[in-house]
Amino acid sequence: MTTQIADMTEDEAREEFFELQTLLWAANREYHTRDNPTISDVEYDWAKRRYLALVDAFPKFEKAATQLTAIGAPVAEGFGKVQHAQRMMSLSNAFDDADVQDFDTSARRFLGLSEDAPLAFTAEPKIDGLSLSLRYEDGQLVQAATRGDGSEGENVTANALTISDIPQTLINAPEILEVRGEVYMSHEEFEALNARHSARGGKVFANPRNAAAGSLRQLDAEVTRARPLRFFAYAWGELSARLADTQIGAIQRLQSFGFQTNPLTKKCETPAELIAIYRDIEAQRATLGYDIDGVVYKVNDLAYQARMGFRSTTPRWAIAHKFPAETAWTRLEGIDIQVGRTGALSPVARLHPVTVGGVVVSNATLHNEDYIAGRDSKGDTIREGKDIRVGDWVQVYRAGDVIPKIADLDLAKRPQDAQIFAFPKICPECGSDAIREEGDAVRRCSGGVICPAQAVEKLKHFVSRGAFDIDGLGAKQIEMFYADPVLPIREPADIFTLQARDVTNLAKLKNRDGWGDKSAKKLFEAIEQRRHIPLGKLIFALGIRHVGESASNLLARHYGSWRAFEDAMVAAAPQEGQAWEDLLDIDGVGQVMAQSLVAAMNQQAERASIDRLVQHLQPQDAEQIDTANSPVAGKTVVFTGTLEKMSRSEAKARAETLGAKVSGSVSKKTDIVIVGPGAGSKEKKARELGLTVLDEDAWLALIAP
Ligand code: IVH
Repeated sequence: MTTQIADMTEDEAREEFFELQTLLWAANREYHTRDNPTISDVEYDWAKRRYLALVDAFPKFEKAATQLTAIGAPVAEGFGKVQHAQRMMSLSNAFDDADVQDFDTSARRFLGLSEDAPLAFTAEPKIDGLSLSLRYEDGQLVQAATRGDGSEGENVTANALTISDIPQTLINAPEILEVRGEVYMSHEEFEALNARHSARGGKVFANPRNAAAGSLRQLDAEVTRARPLRFFAYAWGELSARLADTQIGAIQRLQSFGFQTNPLTKKCETPAELIAIYRDIEAQRATLGYDIDGVVYKVNDLAYQARMGFRSTTPRWAIAHKFPAETAWTRLEGIDIQVGRTGALSPVARLHPVTVGGVVVSNATLHNEDYIAGRDSKGDTIREGKDIRVGDWVQVYRAGDVIPKIADLDLAKRPQDAQIFAFPKICPECGSDAIREEGDAVRRCSGGVICPAQAVEKLKHFVSRGAFDIDGLGAKQIEMFYADPVLPIREPADIFTLQARDVTNLAKLKNRDGWGDKSAKKLFEAIEQRRHIPLGKLIFALGIRHVGESASNLLARHYGSWRAFEDAMVAAAPQEGQAWEDLLDIDGVGQVMAQSLVAAMNQQAERASIDRLVQHLQPQDAEQIDTANSPVAGKTVVFTGTLEKMSRSEAKARAETLGAKVSGSVSKKTDIVIVGPGAGSKEKKARELGLTVLDEDAWLALIAP
């Protein structure tokens, strides 16, 4: 007898829900892979109806349920977006043994550990694939998401379910568990896939990483199923209960749930041991059967990891020790000049195509005119002063994803007629003067918004990931719209008037090459969605020189709203006074960035363009850290003197986590000054101003949870 859904408790319903889900998943899989249904159509339909009725009665199950509809049935259009419960981080890099030593030293300094106190690490290969976050609720896989920009990824659940290394159900796992790791393809499977594809005249992938990414991001999960993907688990996101006390323990725990973890993972007690393992893994690199691009070191003690926390995009407790870049020799066929969004003239080497570490390379960056001439930014010689000429025989190197570079050149092979490269003094795109300011390594086009190259690059930046990230409006479409005589996009504001301008038959987007009714509608919808934009993304999207993603978020958090930000930038225009001081007081904003920001926000043409844009937007106020219970949220604090219970960096990180702003100088706007032994003028000033002055213990008591 089946229980009436209306009579069920939530627990009973959940149990049946997951039972049915497993049954339906299995049935789907059998049906799609083996053409061998395990249950009859009638049984399948009954199970599915009952399953959906449960979701209807218990909306809580919705999140877990959406996946089912995706299985077997290809997702209609694009992937849904997924907000990561905890940001997916990247890693900072170490390139040599000294960087590894520094990692140990700064971890000790942060934690206040002496040189001989024990501090253990783990070492494991850095897999060259793409990261994936798997969310399990009550032991069931409910969501798989790519990294995306770290906060928001793509929902690839249906695809992840086809990967045999990824368990669908876990036993004895915490109620909520996000497992993170790397999807990759083995060398053998990569070769076989490419062989199959080239036999059929299909797409051949440049390397296993591209093949893995292309395979995971298939709209039809059945295509993913046919691609032999694998998965190594190495980290986690949200958890309802701790996995272990140590990194190595947590990895073992993931293994006990059925995940593959890398067999070369080891615990080490000293930096010397880390370096020895690095050499050992490097020696095995060629025979591992899959690509790795370095070794990742992590602080083993999870309590230490929690104390160390994160910088804006990387953990303080981990570092990737990269393998040296791969190199190859080829001929330099030409030097082109590209004009970037800030007007910088960047020389690009056009190379005779050559394979470097498995990827065909035909371009490399040449940085700037000094670099070509054989000088570094300080005017000292590089490459023993050898300048680079068209026709030269050059050594190219590339490390991971970065743009290839030129390491060296062979003078013995220089053609007799090779000419010294004359760096242009005029912008090749708009003919304006290209000026090199004192102290700047870069020559810049002075054309500003009249330079089409700058305008297009600014727009490309505006729609890029981390900025507005508008689905269906990438670099290619921007170039097309920029050149469009009837429906042009020449500045960011034009994006938001596109639909209103798309009215006459002549202008209609859907009538254009590459656009249909559906794709035009989708683009308009994607644009609509972005009218609500987080403040940090808006500031970053403006593409102001020196103002990167993390600085933009800092500014957003500091000023809170667009209005407050813009007022402050106007008030700071004279580069003196309270608003200017306040800007410079933000930890992470230096003189150069502040000048660039204030200049951009007060330059007439640029400012007018920003105003035209903002009138189409509703910028969201900055996300305030959840500080409901924090006594120091929004307060400005200054640390001075020696802290005894924790390092300065840890104290600062803790204060920021609680929503406080940490400043380096004491002023009337300071709320709390924390003083340790040796405090001097700052303490004196705080007392004169009558501010709250606390010693370290009183501060710790104040912020104690
Ligand atoms: S740990 C919070 N461990 O490298 C720390 N990452 O360059 C999360 N990666 O985005 C990362 N192998 O995709 C970690 N053994 C490993 C890894 C690894 C590969 C990737 C990961 C990350 C990127 C950072």
